[in-house]
Amino acid sequence: METNTNLDLLQSGLINDEIKTVAINCLQWGDTGKGKIIDMLSDWADIVARGTGGDNAGHTVWYGNNKYVSHLIPCGNPAKTNVMGSGMVINPKSLFDEIEAAKMNNIVHKDLMLALNAALILPFHLVQDNLSEISAGKQKIGTTGRGIAWAYADQVNRSGLFVNHLLNKDFLAKKLRDNYETKKSFFASFDPQLIRAILDSMRLEGGLYWDEKNLFNLDAIIEKYYLYGQELKDLICDTDKFIKQNVGFKKIAIEGAQGLGLSNKYGTYPYVTSSDCSPYGSAEGIGLNYSQVDLSLGVIKAYVTRVGHGPFPTEMGGDFSENWCNNLSINRAKEMLILKGDDPSEQYHSFDQDFLFGMKLRMIGDEYGATTGRPRRVGWLDLPLLRYAMNFGVKDLVMTKLDVLNDCDFIRICNAYHYSGCSYNYGNRSLGYGDIFRETIMNYDVIKDCKPVYIDLPGWKTDISECRKSSDLPQNLLNFLGFVSRQTGARIRVISTGFRRENVIFA
Ligand code: IMP
Ligand code: MG
Repeated sequence: METNTNLDLLQSGLINDEIKTVAINCLQWGDTGKGKIIDMLSDWADIVARGTGGDNAGHTVWYGNNKYVSHLIPCGNPAKTNVMGSGMVINPKSLFDEIEAAKMNNIVHKDLMLALNAALILPFHLVQDNLSEISAGKQKIGTTGRGIAWAYADQVNRSGLFVNHLLNKDFLAKKLRDNYETKKSFFASFDPQLIRAILDSMRLEGGLYWDEKNLFNLDAIIEKYYLYGQELKDLICDTDKFIKQNVGFKKIAIEGAQGLGLSNKYGTYPYVTSSDCSPYGSAEGIGLNYSQVDLSLGVIKAYVTRVGHGPFPTEMGGDFSENWCNNLSINRAKEMLILKGDDPSEQYHSFDQDFLFGMKLRMIGDEYGATTGRPRRVGWLDLPLLRYAMNFGVKDLVMTKLDVLNDCDFIRICNAYHYSGCSYNYGNRSLGYGDIFRETIMNYDVIKDCKPVYIDLPGWKTDISECRKSSDLPQNLLNFLGFVSRQTGARIRVISTGFRRENVIFA
């Protein structure tokens, strides 16, 4: 029997019988609500497969009134085959905990697969991540602290371990000891008590891996990792081969993680994550070539957010907002007090209006990290960034969280950048102060000095949560969608008007 979403999908013409492989990727800096779209597509798909990143990601899906966040397991229908692909980095503790948490929520994954050749995150990697962020001072990236970059780095520098090592204790022990040898001097350069404090966290088994004399208790790590391997062994298999055998026959949904702006290869480097989380990379990460994707869906929000540091031309409140959101003492509860005018310690009325408006949208959109709880920086929709994304063979868009803008008097859109930096050679192009760019130049030296050129459209000022089809939508919202389409050449095929499953409209 076809489910409702399945019927809608087919009737909308978005999916037809010719389409077997669909990719869903965020075209901004992550957190665009891919989870809900993947969840929807997973009713159609036989297989949902993810190919990049690790437990730095957080996908939120609502089942009725229950919020469920997945970090590693694809957020699709648990009755389908869910694959964690070879391009991912896996922290076995996080995966084990996530499976247990899912069970507690009565979500039992019937057919979960874990790539035997996905890179393994070791306790060293989490410690390295935290130490390097501490010592980076002002240059820090604002990582999720999950050791992602360091696990990928080991894979690239040929000292890494893979999931399959969990199944072979002797190999695990030898590889892990060898890996540690490459890092000993790095760790020795830090205060041991700092390392101890990091190792004390529950994420690192509450001090189990600490050793007074040698810093790390390698035997304890080997023992624990082997135990995780025993817990996970039924999932571990050659997923690349499985996907290659099924592509073109079974219906596959590729779950992107993070977003194009965070891609190590195509994003705002060095303020990126460490995988290629572009549409290309997400296909490669499950063992496919992007040309094997029949339908590539790009997901954008009606505005933009970014977590951690890095250039963000349309940020409301600019540098002040960046610093604010990266201040660890700021959280949702605190911002709630400020917005209500109840925070005695804050001179909230002296805040810049733009910044306050961003904070308001952050609250309405619940823009607090699913993984770290950090406030996400908020900005207006960025069309130069979207035009850049269109180069990745994505024509069809899903626009989410339109409801967050319901109360806005006007909808601001960045339609170009004004370059305010010094003379700069970008290949054979000479850039200079005052240049106008219609498309993002994805180079940190340039983008950090790009200022948005905005246009304002009238807001719709209507609650859209009860709208079920395009013709129910307010004209000003349709005008906004039309503007984005005309300016970028993208087709907006699906819009999301609320967090619930039914808040989806096929355009
Ligand atoms: P890492 O992936 O933990 O190394 O962090 C690198 C950068 O990517 C930081 O700015 C993070 O905030 C960002 N990042 C990583 N994963 C996500 C995600 O799932 N959503 C949004 N930002 C992310
Ligand atoms: Mg997320």
